[in-house]
Amino acid sequence: MDLAMRLREGTKHAHTAAENTAFMKCFLKGIVEREPFRKLTADLYFVYQALENALDEQIHHPAVSKVYFPALRRVPKLEADLAYYYGDDWRHQIQASPKGLAYVDRIQTVARENPALLIAHAYVRYMGDLSGGQSLRHIARSAMNLPPDQGTGLHEFDAFPTVESRRAFKMTYRDALNAIEVDEATAQAIVDEANLAFQMNRDVFHEMEEDVRAAIGDHVFDLITRQDKPGSTDRTPGHSSVELVAA
Ligand code: HEM
Repeated sequence: MDLAMRLREGTKHAHTAAENTAFMKCFLKGIVEREPFRKLTADLYFVYQALENALDEQIHHPAVSKVYFPALRRVPKLEADLAYYYGDDWRHQIQASPKGLAYVDRIQTVARENPALLIAHAYVRYMGDLSGGQSLRHIARSAMNLPPDQGTGLHEFDAFPTVESRRAFKMTYRDALNAIEVDEATAQAIVDEANLAFQMNRDVFHEMEEDVRAAIGDHVFDLITRQDKPGSTDRTPGHSSVELVAA
């Protein structure tokens, strides 16, 4: 079963929609406000905690175990990020947003009722952090003028420090997905769950938008967010979106 291709193809519209959220459009233009950024970091901390606890519990599951890679673990990185943004007592200061809670809840439900669907949740977050997340990291660092080694741990993978090593690992991850033996119905359920995971990421972004709008004002916010652009995973392989637009 070519689950890697099924996931990429089956979620490309959801990916394009995520890139075209107002929050991401502003982000890509270098508008990264500290308050919504740290709120998002807190939400992702709760999401990854749920996900990584669930993956640990399913370490012997025949399908989930195939994509069990401790080198991906994000919780310790997010803890360091939160200590930077909120201070030493960050645990008492943070709480999940309503949509962040819904996302956590969904991961916990899936873990209980149909653990194979955890594959979808792991795919959406980890492959995203290894891909577009790398650009977001650079933008966040320069926009918030962060001190070296602080604040962007989410997108730092000690085991994969270079572009080449991340690219190679993404191939390993796709091979692992393809080695999972699933029937057609399960494969479709995993793709559907991945689309839901994208939707839940978009929902969390939407909650951050008002902070961004307040920081930059209605006019600039509308200018930046009114046009959509082609998606990064929704194009012919080997062509940049710039080439596609020009074609
Ligand atoms: C892949 C960019 C947001 C999840 C990619 C790739 C790019 C990219 C260029 C292709 C990498 C490759 O083929 O090796 C971006 C940009 C984003 C963004 C610029 C924001 C503005 C997101 C978000 C998520 C996400 C919010 C989910 C939470 C993924 C996934 C893949 C991916 C799962 C892997 C696709 C595959 O090859 O199967 N992204 N991305 N991305 N992105 Fe994003």
